[in-house]
Amino acid sequence: MKKELPFSEENINNLLKNVQTPFYLYDEEGIRNRIRALKDAFSWADFKEFFAVKATPNPYILKIAKEEGCGVDCSSMAELVAAEKSGFVKNEILFTSNDTPLQEYEKALSLNAILNLDDVSHIDLLKEKYTLPDLISIRYNPGGDFGNEIIGNLKESKFGVPKNDLIKGYRRLKDYGVQRFGLHAMLISNELNPQNIIKVAQFLFETAVEVHKKLGIYFEFIDLGGGFGIPYKPEEKELDIYYVSQQIKSLYENILLKNGLKPPKIFMEHGRYITGPNGYLITKVLHIKDSYKKYAGIDANSANLLRPAMYKAYHHITVLNKNPDEEKEMYDVVGSLCENNDKLATDRLLPKLERGDVLIFHDVGAHGYSMGFNYNGKLRSAEYLFTKEREFKMIRRAETLDDYFATLNF
Ligand SMILES: Cc1ncc(COP(=O)(O)O)c(C=O)c1O
Repeated sequence: MKKELPFSEENINNLLKNVQTPFYLYDEEGIRNRIRALKDAFSWADFKEFFAVKATPNPYILKIAKEEGCGVDCSSMAELVAAEKSGFVKNEILFTSNDTPLQEYEKALSLNAILNLDDVSHIDLLKEKYTLPDLISIRYNPGGDFGNEIIGNLKESKFGVPKNDLIKGYRRLKDYGVQRFGLHAMLISNELNPQNIIKVAQFLFETAVEVHKKLGIYFEFIDLGGGFGIPYKPEEKELDIYYVSQQIKSLYENILLKNGLKPPKIFMEHGRYITGPNGYLITKVLHIKDSYKKYAGIDANSANLLRPAMYKAYHHITVLNKNPDEEKEMYDVVGSLCENNDKLATDRLLPKLERGDVLIFHDVGAHGYSMGFNYNGKLRSAEYLFTKEREFKMIRRAETLDDYFATLNF
């Protein structure tokens, strides 16, 4: 897919007169459009998208999701608080955590969030301390391999419970008086192959029927997880969510309805599909270094964008104010961390660079800023929103050295 920017070069050049790089920039209209497309594609079902807060945990982004009718999927105390402060209530909040501290369960229960349990041993723990909520979901891990490159062999995954435990868990919940149930799995990540997504739905629907037949319970919702992929590379193709949705619809009818299940709601919890393509990291070239290779040293580093160092992920780069077809050179685009894997692009052909050039990294709107860290005392950048009124608005200021030292007592 051709990589384009939602704003003009002139827009960004003007913004750069007043704003320090590096910074993240999100496109509000693009985010709204992705949510609307998801809702439209799955309009045949009683469908709800629970935006995965971990992808872009900024309340301004969460509020956009809320305005578009989403709930939120939270995995930690901070994410629960962000959801609460952004106005989400009760069953608009799904709590999908693992190795969960009790205080986090307590917070989720106080918000009347839907609990999605990562292990059945948590059931007795919760029962001992609290009143079990009326509606509870369990995260399923079927083992095996759903063909997803990132998640791989599920027997190596710490998430979710095997089939036996799943059945044991629902039985126990039922014995404890719980009456409303959800079934959840997250078996793919950044998946662009429709067949792998459809396979997950088929598997979950078949599992719901099996549990129903064994225990006589119905499912209020089936949560297919997140994981729809985005084309990070220009040569990759956009996922056809309408095709995926229609295939899932026929499985829904042929597996769930034909076997007499009351029609469950369909939940999803995408992050990347919604904000991924609608976020940009704007950086400047500080130095060009000619060594065994040619290095473009920029003012951002892996503490601002971890995905290339962590997953060897590709993020397309647009060089502002330069014709992409002009003379090109091969660069490693690096940050200033004292780590040799602090490379945001490797062996990348770019228009010939010089100090001060502005590089725009594409598709960083999800799991970008949020995976940041402070190694070498590097500070987190600001976040800006390109609003639907086509204005730039700061939605998080950059960290300062005072912020960095604030937890020290010296
Ligand atoms: C449980 C769960 N749900 C949803 C997501 C969102 O995934 P994605 O942003 O790939 O859609 C994640 C990502 O880590 C996750 O762990």
